[in-house]
Amino acid sequence: MRLTFKITLFFIGGICLIMAWQGYSRIDRESGLFEAQMRRDHYALGQPLAVMVRYGREEFGEDFALELVERSNQASERLRVRWVWAQTGTLERLRPEAPLDLNVLLEEGRAVSWIDRDQIDAGRLYTYVPVVVEEERVGAVELSESFAREQAYVRASKWRIVWTTLLMLVMASGLAMVTGLLFIARPVDALVARARSIGKGDLKTPLKLDGHGELSVLAMEMNLMSDQLVGASEKLEEETAARIQALQQLRHADRLKTVGTLAAGLAHELGTPLNVISMRAAMIEDREVEGDEIERNARIIGEQTSRITKIIRQLMDFARVRHLSKTRMEVGPVVEQAIELIRPIAEKRQVTMELSAEPQAFASDVDADQITQVLTNLLVNAMHACQKEGGRVEVALRAVRQAHPEEDEGQERDFVLVEVKDDGVGMREDALEQIFEPFFTTKAVGEGSGLGLSVSYGIVREHGGWIDVTSVEGQGSTFGVYLPIEERA
Ligand SMILES: Nc1ncnc2c1ncn2[C@@H]1O[C@H](COP(=O)(O)OP(=O)(O)OP(=O)(O)O)[C@@H](O)[C@H]1O
Ligand SMILES: [Mg+2]
Repeated sequence: MRLTFKITLFFIGGICLIMAWQGYSRIDRESGLFEAQMRRDHYALGQPLAVMVRYGREEFGEDFALELVERSNQASERLRVRWVWAQTGTLERLRPEAPLDLNVLLEEGRAVSWIDRDQIDAGRLYTYVPVVVEEERVGAVELSESFAREQAYVRASKWRIVWTTLLMLVMASGLAMVTGLLFIARPVDALVARARSIGKGDLKTPLKLDGHGELSVLAMEMNLMSDQLVGASEKLEEETAARIQALQQLRHADRLKTVGTLAAGLAHELGTPLNVISMRAAMIEDREVEGDEIERNARIIGEQTSRITKIIRQLMDFARVRHLSKTRMEVGPVVEQAIELIRPIAEKRQVTMELSAEPQAFASDVDADQITQVLTNLLVNAMHACQKEGGRVEVALRAVRQAHPEEDEGQERDFVLVEVKDDGVGMREDALEQIFEPFFTTKAVGEGSGLGLSVSYGIVREHGGWIDVTSVEGQGSTFGVYLPIEERA
């Protein structure tokens, strides 16, 4: 509708301009023609009258000549005819009205004209036709006529043009609106509605527009585009299904691999203590040991059993679907508590532990026990990494704003970052790739089961966060625990 209105307005504006220009040039041309016609009339009457005056004066005297002029003055109301003398010093009533030096012009023997536009009425055209009566005197017949008739004609012409233009405008705008509505607004509305329905996902209903105009071609192209979109989305669905299937197969293979690693790790981890237990039990059963030795062997059996229990508990931690009991709290105190737990063992190994925290407070929804478990594991790992004396573990707590790395096109949000940095042995690239796998450990038998980081990652992930790590062999490692901030003070 707005398009139709704009086209109509443009159309009408164009017509107005053309009509105005045409009217102006027509009036100008007609005024010129009118003036030329007046001049011709003056000459046509003035020339024979001048001849008659000249010969009448010579034959019958001055009065006859004046009589002739007077008679011709009565011939028309519009045209005024007078007898004038060109020379200066003549009587007032016989002087020419035009401020021209008629002497020069009339002495050449040709008629002259003069237009006076300044007069109160429409202005006048003066024509002087010379009548040579004596050698030294020059007389003339003065014909003058008002432009009032011309102006009335121009006025009438202007009004005629104005009315014709108005009539044309009304007709043209009506016609333009009707054709615009029929041939532009209606099909464009249909196209817009179709585009909207495509946007909402309806690709099946085709749009039919009559005719073979550009808009019908556009409608056909839209239908074609919808068909292609249907084809493309079907193809995409097939591809997505195939990708999901491939992913499931991959996951299955991955699960098998994890089970394999788990089984191998488990066999290795449990094999050693079980061997020790069965050996010591056999020794007691066969009475190979006596007295205090029996007690020592029983204690060893007890120790190995607790080791097995610990491994099984860690394994349960890893495998179990943990039920977190989250509470909204500040993470700072949890970090401090974990440091305090480890500090005595660290001090024995001459490893210092320092905490630097941002002063601002932020609260997260956390299961404090589980997060303490994560942090103690990171701190113990860092402490173990400091093999030389005087190792240093720095813990930093601050808020960061970033997107979750595991979410595609994830929006940036606030996370609390707990950074555990040590200046220990660091890790090689290949070790770095495996540290989150269960049972991956570089520690001696009995020192580590290789479950700490995989359990920790699972816990942090269930809190909606993640763990990242950077490490340089021989220089140290930095582990970052990210937990979503729910509230800022
Ligand atoms: N800060 C660190 N510096 C160097 N290596 C590290 C660090 N933290 C972890 N690692 C490496 O990652 C391995 C896996 O760590 P993870 O905590 O999972 O198991 P672990 O410490 O060996 O045993 P545990 O199950 O008792 O924690 C470690 O054996 C070690 O090789
Ligand atoms: Mg560990």
